[in-house]
Amino acid sequence: MVGKELTKARAAEVSRPVKGYATALGTMWHGDSRHVLEKLKDNSVNAIITSPPFALTRVKSYGNEPEHRYVDWFMQFAEQFKRVLTDDGSLVLDLGGAWLPGSPTRSLYQYRLLIRLCDELGFHLAEDFYWFNPAKIPGPREWVTRQRIRVKDSVNLVWWLGKTEYPKANNKNVLVEYSASMKRLLAKKSYNQGIRPSGHDVGAAWAIDHGGAIPSNVIRAELEHDLLDNFLEVANTSASDDYQKYCREHSIPTHPARFPRTIPEFFTKFLTDEGDLIVDPFAGSNMTGVVAEELSRKWISAELDRDFVRGSIGRFSPESVTTNKIDQLYK
Ligand SMILES: C[S@@+](CC[C@H](N)C(=O)[O-])C[C@H]1O[C@@H](n2cnc3c(N)ncnc32)[C@H](O)[C@@H]1O
Repeated sequence: MVGKELTKARAAEVSRPVKGYATALGTMWHGDSRHVLEKLKDNSVNAIITSPPFALTRVKSYGNEPEHRYVDWFMQFAEQFKRVLTDDGSLVLDLGGAWLPGSPTRSLYQYRLLIRLCDELGFHLAEDFYWFNPAKIPGPREWVTRQRIRVKDSVNLVWWLGKTEYPKANNKNVLVEYSASMKRLLAKKSYNQGIRPSGHDVGAAWAIDHGGAIPSNVIRAELEHDLLDNFLEVANTSASDDYQKYCREHSIPTHPARFPRTIPEFFTKFLTDEGDLIVDPFAGSNMTGVVAEELSRKWISAELDRDFVRGSIGRFSPESVTTNKIDQLYK
């Protein structure tokens, strides 16, 4: 199929989502997630964890809304998000930054979106997170590496929004390792109690071992990035290896902007319980779905591009895929 025919066929696929594949706990839909969301019941989803296409000024292979239309476009999805979330449900949005075309200044789209989500739809900003990815490639070239008047952008903003002020959350599920000094302090079991110069009152409770430290809202995680992996010749022993191998063997392009496991894993553990339902309406390679499956959560994902749907099967063991329609549809 070439040219117009292919375009028509793709448009048809998109207007009516089809079941791509399913596992014991979830389904990956191929199609526009707006239509998938329409079918979900009110108050039925515990968390939406997603990374929508960013408002890039340079269009990626999977297409992005231009910066000036982005927020209006996104609001159509957001209305459905609000409806399908439970009252204690969470919306987690990973949004990369964008530079304005031809200018060494940044787009405000992430902030505009946040304000409209809260002011117009009544979402509550539970907390802002910062995904620190030190391995990001420096850009835009003109400002960062040629004129040297800007530095490397190394964070994505991640808005954690609640449908109400009290989304379900438990930071005991995401404790991190204590620092070396804290470990020493816990081992010593005694220290000077009292007021510190910072004004903090350090009481007896500080010496209790809670099994780990409370994490901060900065999450360090490196992108699953083919280019970097090749460039650094990193021996990639992670599960992303299986995904890449599967795509290579089936001649399917890998997704260019995949979540590192850490991002969906952190929010899944923090904001949901086993048996809860997680939705990713911009699923790409379905990292959210596979993490949900491994953590015994139900999941529903949707992805517009059939090749990304096909490739994402490679994230699951063949035994766990109970239905595989996408490969029958597009041999
Ligand atoms: C940033 S990527 C998500 C990557 C994903 N987090 C992963 O780990 O692979 C955004 C994805 O949204 C998809 N997309 C864009 N509009 C969509 C829509 N209306 N319905 C479903 N998917 C859509 C794009 O094709 C793209 O793969």
